[in-house]
Amino acid sequence: MSKILVVGSINMDLVTRVSKAPKTGETVLGEDFKQIPGGKGANQAVAMARLGSDVAMIGMVGEDSFGDTLLYAIKKDGVDISGIGRCSSKSTGIATIVVDDDANNSIIVVSGANFEMKKEDIDKNIKLYEDSKIVVHQLETPLDIVEYSLKVSKALGKTTILNPAPAKSMSDEIIKNVDYLIPNETELEILSGMPVKTKEDILLACRKMMEKGVKKLIVTLGSKGAIYVDSEGSKEFGVYKVEAVDTTAAGDSFIGGFTAAFSEGKPVEEAMDFAAKVGAITVTREGAQTSLPTLDEVRNFKGVV
Ligand code: RIB
Repeated sequence: MSKILVVGSINMDLVTRVSKAPKTGETVLGEDFKQIPGGKGANQAVAMARLGSDVAMIGMVGEDSFGDTLLYAIKKDGVDISGIGRCSSKSTGIATIVVDDDANNSIIVVSGANFEMKKEDIDKNIKLYEDSKIVVHQLETPLDIVEYSLKVSKALGKTTILNPAPAKSMSDEIIKNVDYLIPNETELEILSGMPVKTKEDILLACRKMMEKGVKKLIVTLGSKGAIYVDSEGSKEFGVYKVEAVDTTAAGDSFIGGFTAAFSEGKPVEEAMDFAAKVGAITVTREGAQTSLPTLDEVRNFKGVV
């Protein structure tokens, strides 16, 4: 039985390394170029599978060579790909990523096949929902699909997670079916419509989201760690100090780590710490799926918060 279902995007990342990203109108020489499997949904699914979780994915790729390569990669990591369709009208999603010497990145996603997902793709894979305990979503698939999948998941009594990335505002119909919302500060600001500068701002914005029906929130704060918030209160978690080379998929790996630990019944404190370790290892390596650690690597990680 698949314990976790990820409904989300699958992209080929076209990654250019450059010492300093160009300004508008400027041409610079890059240092390296690679094609690396990515997409927030696939990254999260692969992160969980590498950490030992039983994971299935619902998504869409094109009938092209990127689609072949990505399906092969996700399957090789042990994710059940029976819910991933192929579409003839659009090419596989791609992400153009520029990473600089400070490990910062900028990303442009061309969604392609990811945005061809239809409600029928959910309906025909209902067994994957029935077999799962937790259903995980992001926002690189159409909003009506996210809304429908959350509704189907809750009707079947599943725990739902939404990582609202990339940030966009959305209806209360979507929000009310989210058990765990995992935004960063910018995403929380957009979703709540409130400024998010200080810890007090974060807590107020989280309260607003809980009034709309969200049960619990984890707000990721990049190098400042993360805050867990529920109706009882909040708790802050630090980050493990590492030398970052590429922050791509840091958030995806954190969500993968948290969900993997949480699906095994670990308490929130333990799941958050495990996720922080997964995120720390991920940023020390290049690329999205190429940087995600195995369970053994996380167990052997000796970091300091
Ligand atoms: O979160 C990182 C991911 O965002 C990349 O792999 C890219 O494909 C975009 O979806």
